[in-house]
This record gives sequence, structure tokens and C-alpha cells, in this order.
Amino acid sequence: DKAGHKHFMAKEIAEQPGVIGQALSHYMSDTGEILLPGEGVDFTQIDRITMVACGTAAYACLTAKYWFEQIARIPVEVDVASEFRYREPPIPGRTLALFVSQSGETADTLAALRYCEGKAQTILSVVNVPESSIARESDLTLPIYAGVEVGVASTKAFTCQLTVLFMLALKAAQQRGALSDEAFADHVSALRGLPSVINAALEKNGEIRDAAQKLSHAQDVLFLGRGRMFPMAHEAALKLKEISYIHAEAYASGELKHGPIALIDENMPVVVLAPYDTLFDKTVSNMQEVMARKGKVILISDSEGLAEASEGVWATIEMPRISEALGPILYAIPSQLLAYHTAVAKGTDVDQPRNLAKSVTVE
Ligand code: F6R
Repeated sequence: DKAGHKHFMAKEIAEQPGVIGQALSHYMSDTGEILLPGEGVDFTQIDRITMVACGTAAYACLTAKYWFEQIARIPVEVDVASEFRYREPPIPGRTLALFVSQSGETADTLAALRYCEGKAQTILSVVNVPESSIARESDLTLPIYAGVEVGVASTKAFTCQLTVLFMLALKAAQQRGALSDEAFADHVSALRGLPSVINAALEKNGEIRDAAQKLSHAQDVLFLGRGRMFPMAHEAALKLKEISYIHAEAYASGELKHGPIALIDENMPVVVLAPYDTLFDKTVSNMQEVMARKGKVILISDSEGLAEASEGVWATIEMPRISEALGPILYAIPSQLLAYHTAVAKGTDVDQPRNLAKSVTVE
């Protein structure tokens, strides 16, 4: 049932304020304590986290790496499962192995988990399907409470994965004494505001559809982001390619001049993900390098960012303000909607893109 939407993907995008609220209420008490199921995890006994997943779930891991490293001060390694399993990496003691999967059945991720069995201190999984193989074979499972996801392109599962991973990073930071009480409380209050901020982002649908109309004529699109927005640039590019069949690539903004800038001309739209945060000026200077070469820029930022940097850009999408840490969860929304409306404009099969399956149970 698409609940009045044209596609499951549209419905699932629209459900995000509600399901993120669900995920928050499962892991956060009224007093702002982060609660993990069962025995939880003792992060004082962990020196390192190895995160393994595929596709969109791997981009959730890459985003979480910023949180675990910057907020909880735990070194994190992220790998796509198909590479991890055949590299046979050494797993030092006091490693937490963390697997992220919507379906909980992805063959490569499950094989990577089995590789870690008996080698890692603890096997933790973040899944949407609690009765899945990956959940069953983990020491501890954190369900994301996104509800059934039908659209092949993952949307609400991704933002719920991020929400749960962020709470896990906060828990880790607290246990390890890496955060002041005040900083912890600030993160909790930002988390509580997340559903309404996501709602405000969904209200930008019209602006995003206009930008998508322009993108729908492109052959290739480049996505740029810095810091926490770098994995999001990858996720935005993946969403666009899988449902609109437009070739898209993501680069860290700072890498632009090390090669990809050679691609820039008036036919290559560049989507820049740049909330007005500590990295904003750096990203904008990369964006200006694009515009100096006639590149057409779609700038996704907030009111402050757009006031400072929207001159001469091709299109803008205005997001609400959000704490720096939670930026990626919010910027997932325009990334998803941009892909969605581009695909609708092109007339592709949004919910069942060619060659793709919802659950990849073969390698
Ligand atoms: C992209 C997408 C895929 C999955 C990947 C992993 O929109 O849905 O990239 O994220 O196949 O699937 P799960 O999370 O079920 O392990």
C-alpha cells in the first residue's frame, strides 16, 4: 500500500520523521539516557571498531566513522563486505566488529560476519529485520525500527541506521568520558529535534523537484562534500544512478583539483552538499573553482550558507539549520528527493530499477 503516494520510495521518504522518532524512542529515555538492549556494549573494553556493510549501508558506516572518531575518540575502519572478506584482515584483540544491513541477509556482509566470529571481541549488528541471519548470528543486535522498506533504493532504512549509529557513538563517548555532560546534553537535544527538522526538509519538495528537472537532462553528475558530507555525497550519487540511470560520481571537495576538475564544463552539473558549518568556506572555495570553469552548481545549504554563497549558482535547495554532527541525516533528504524527482522526470521505474534486487543474497 503506497498510502496515496505514486511510489513506495516516495512513501518511504515521507515516513522518515515518524520512523526516526520511533528509533529515537527505542534507544533514548525521557531523561536523555541512551539505552542499549541486553548487556549493551562496554566501550571501555574496545580499542577499535571495524565496520562492514554493502552499498547504502556502507555509506551509513562511513558517516558513523566521523561520529565514533570525533565524538567518542575510537578509531574506526570501514570496509565494503566483498573486499573485507577476501582480504582476510587481521582482527586485533579488543575490536568491536559492527555490521550494518537493512535486510540482514546480504551474502557478503554475512560472510564477513562469519569471518569475524571468534576473532572480534563482540559482534554487533544494526539491522532492519530482527529475525534475519545477520541479527541471529550477532552477539548483540540493534534494530533500526524503520518498518518494512519496499522500494529497492534504500531511504528510510539509511536515515534510521544513521540515527541508531549516532546514538551508539554518543553512548560510547559517554562511557569513555570523551564528552562533557553539557556537550552530551546538546547532542541529545539536537536528536530530539530531528523529526521536526526532517519534516521541514521534506517541505522543500518543490524546490528539489525544480532542481531535479534540470538534472534530468544531464548525462553525468558530480556530487561534492567535505567531512561528514563526503559519505553523503556518495550516497546521493548512488541514489541518482540506481534509479535515474544517470552516471554520477562523488568526490571529497578537496580532491577536486587532483583530477576530476578536468571533467568540468557547462554540461556537467555539480551538486554541492554544504551546510553552514566549520568546513563551509573550504567547500565553497572548491565550488567556486567549479563555477570558474562554467560548471553548473546546485548548492544545498541552509539560509546562512545560501546568503553567503549562492551568487551565480544554477539552483539552490535550502535546508533548515541543524547541529553540525547531525548534518548528514538531514542532508539525506534532499539527496533522496533529488534522485527521486529526477527518475520521475525521466520516467524510469523508481521502485524496481533495472538489474537490481532488494536483497542481495548471492555474492
Ligand atoms: C541502495 C541499496 C543497496 C543496499 C545494499 C545493502 O539504495 O539499497 O546498496 O544498501 O545492497 O543491503 P542491506 O542493507 O540489506 O545489506
